[in-house]
Amino acid sequence: MTKIDRDGFTTNLGVLVATLGSAVGLGNIWKFPSLTGTNGGAGFLLVYLAATMLVGLPVMIAETMLGRTARADAVTSFEILAPRGQWEWKAIGWMGCAAALLIMAFYSEVAGWVYAYVFKAVSGEVSTVDPKVAGAAFAKLVSSPLTVLAWQWVVLAVTGGVIMCGVSKGIEAVTLRLVPLLFILLVALCVRSLTLDGAGRGLGFLFQPDFAKITPAVALTALGLAFFKLSLGMGTMLTYGSYFRDDQNIPWTATRVMLADLSVSLLAGVAIFPAVFTFGFEPAAGPSLVFMTIPAVFASMPGGTVFMTIFFLITAIASVGAILSLIEVPVAVLSERYGLGRKQAALATIAAIALLGVPASLSQSLMAHVAIFGLNPFDLFDFASSNVLLPLGGILICLFVGWVYGFDKTARSLSNHGELNNRGLIKAVFFLIRFIAPLSIAIVLLNGLKLI
Ligand code: PHE
Repeated sequence: MTKIDRDGFTTNLGVLVATLGSAVGLGNIWKFPSLTGTNGGAGFLLVYLAATMLVGLPVMIAETMLGRTARADAVTSFEILAPRGQWEWKAIGWMGCAAALLIMAFYSEVAGWVYAYVFKAVSGEVSTVDPKVAGAAFAKLVSSPLTVLAWQWVVLAVTGGVIMCGVSKGIEAVTLRLVPLLFILLVALCVRSLTLDGAGRGLGFLFQPDFAKITPAVALTALGLAFFKLSLGMGTMLTYGSYFRDDQNIPWTATRVMLADLSVSLLAGVAIFPAVFTFGFEPAAGPSLVFMTIPAVFASMPGGTVFMTIFFLITAIASVGAILSLIEVPVAVLSERYGLGRKQAALATIAAIALLGVPASLSQSLMAHVAIFGLNPFDLFDFASSNVLLPLGGILICLFVGWVYGFDKTARSLSNHGELNNRGLIKAVFFLIRFIAPLSIAIVLLNGLKLI
């Protein structure tokens, strides 16, 4: 195999920011609160936390390590690392490409809603604490097929533009400055939310688990969210790992990204649920929850319109880092395996997403009644990626590292060839990867899909 001259992250801070940029996105602001709401609150959060620590973190470390060792795209990496004759492992990379397209089909739609809300915030249309008015504004947007499609294409055009102009490094620099601002705005929202009448009920919903509500389906959704949040099980972290520097401390970087990502989600939860109970929103509203509740909290504080606009703007920008990392999986495969230029590869990927995006975008309007396995295309793409493909990719990655790649190579790689003094930590991580993570994913997956 010829060694391809590869681009890479040039500083350790750049690595951290890009990886964080992939993790932090609509998953924190949109998906985490809506799933916590529809799955009963604290019990879901508990399973999500366990899944993140015991499964997500080890898988993240394993995936990044594979990428950095192979220094190749998600498919080729397995050809390089698997023992001779065991090239089936590269299926993980192909599954990852499929997951990337499915996720992008609905993720770009939701990003489009966020873009649209920047303008709705400016116009004052959504400055309301009335669930009916807020619900009507959201319904007006998503039930208009042309509007949602147009916004989705704006998102894809912006993403394509970023890739064409090669300004992804610029995006990293922007993200680095904006993530702290998002943090500050979320903290301000939390303060406002915690001083509302319904704060106690909101916090109870979020933090007092009712164990009866933890069903196999809820557990699978929580596990799927853990994978989705940290961009795992589909080759994103592997591809990013391939750009890591040799002296990067992988376990430490992964831990910091996981903790930062978790804090953003928790802040979003604390900002939203007290308002849900104060103003009478429905916690189980699903995808619309954030688009109704966040404006309500802003509307109830001074200067709300300005802050609301900034909030949606930052969320829109934060989604770019995640989108770039999603697209990077097929783009790296197409350009490194098939010799396509990066621009052509990005164009082909974006065209595929635009096609798949049509049914996703029309799921709240023209195709609302289409049901495949009882789900509309939007929900189906979400379920098939987060609840099936990502956990499956996660198991395979664990089996590969834990049983094929082995402890010695893992230890060498995660200690940077003995430079880091972290053998105890590596042993613990390897134990999780070899036994705990694959077993728990298998149990949750089989139960959640009602296969056992
Ligand atoms: N982690 C991103 C988010 O939460 C989404 C994502 C999933 C990005 C999978 C890359 C790969 O918004």
